[in-house]
Amino acid sequence: EKGGYPYFMLKEISEQPAVLADTLRGRLSPDGAIVLDEERLSGEDFRDIDKVFIVACGTAYHAGLIAKYAIEHWTRLPCEVEMASEFRYRDPVLDRSTLVIAISQSGETLDTLMAVKHAREQKARVLAICNTNGSTIPRESDAVLYTRCGPEVGVAATKTFLGQVAACLLVGLFLAQARGVLYGDEVGAYVEKLQKMPDLVARTLGTVGPVRELARSLSGARTVLFLGRHVGYPVALEGALKLKELAYMHAEGFPAGELKHGPIALVEQGVPVVVVVPSPRGRAVLHDKVVSNIQEVRARGARTIVIAEEGDHLVEPFADHLIRVPATSSLFSPLVTTIPLQVFACELALARGLDVDQPRNLAKSVTVE
Ligand code: F6R
Repeated sequence: EKGGYPYFMLKEISEQPAVLADTLRGRLSPDGAIVLDEERLSGEDFRDIDKVFIVACGTAYHAGLIAKYAIEHWTRLPCEVEMASEFRYRDPVLDRSTLVIAISQSGETLDTLMAVKHAREQKARVLAICNTNGSTIPRESDAVLYTRCGPEVGVAATKTFLGQVAACLLVGLFLAQARGVLYGDEVGAYVEKLQKMPDLVARTLGTVGPVRELARSLSGARTVLFLGRHVGYPVALEGALKLKELAYMHAEGFPAGELKHGPIALVEQGVPVVVVVPSPRGRAVLHDKVVSNIQEVRARGARTIVIAEEGDHLVEPFADHLIRVPATSSLFSPLVTTIPLQVFACELALARGLDVDQPRNLAKSVTVE
């Protein structure tokens, strides 16, 4: 049942092009509208939404952080992302024109469920992004978009994260359309571009071989730092979380721009620093700033592991290790930049002799608060 792989996690990483394609299939109606799986709200209810909160835990929270960039950009609605365990205890301002998006692979995470219940008590509308049909969180929600990733056996989320990111992008387009800020043909063009992503994910999986050797050479590192900017920041957080969970190593993700405000003090000779570089096309200013950050950490002795778009030559002089990903539009880029980080954490853990399917102290579904 591991399909010839020694671990479920390796199989699940390899399934990502297919689960992404499945999650995106049939999402556009003939008249150009995004199709959710369940909708117990009217078009008017969605049109009246004036702010969005995203609640989730762990990896799903990272998908939510990525969603914020897309939702604010496409809908022009303010969007906050919060760890579900913090949300209801701070008395958030909620009413019937608030949309709370709950992201949960299992649909049973108690912190996320309690955040949903609290939101509903305050009359907020709830939309769930979930991988488990008929689980509790979608049952408690007004609308549902299911990721179609199939069961995930590895305790660390991999393919379901990609599914969640794709689902978040679809929800962003859905809300923009409901508000009348994006029209059918624009939404259709985005969906068409999204549907090309499974091929790019497959291409990325085909070129991550060198990441394996690199990871093995770092199995003795004491800490690994991850930097990113814009949507690359949540990707950096996810890379660090995977490394903690799987390899039991200290790892931290930072927004690259925060480096000079403290974290750069951690950089010393030989510390591996993984940098997720934004595309040089689009907003070149962000790209250039991240390239300066790579130079800054390298000047202080860091071993730089640079994840950059194909054709980005500006990073070359500063990368001790260069990992290429296909060029994409920036909002879609996490679907490819995450892949080498998953492989990196998995290989590093294997090099340390660990069981990547069953990391210590972790449960697949956390049903206690
Ligand atoms: C990380 C991981 C966890 C889950 C978190 C939420 O690899 O698996 O951080 O993402 O416990 O779980 P769900 O999505 O089931 O609510």
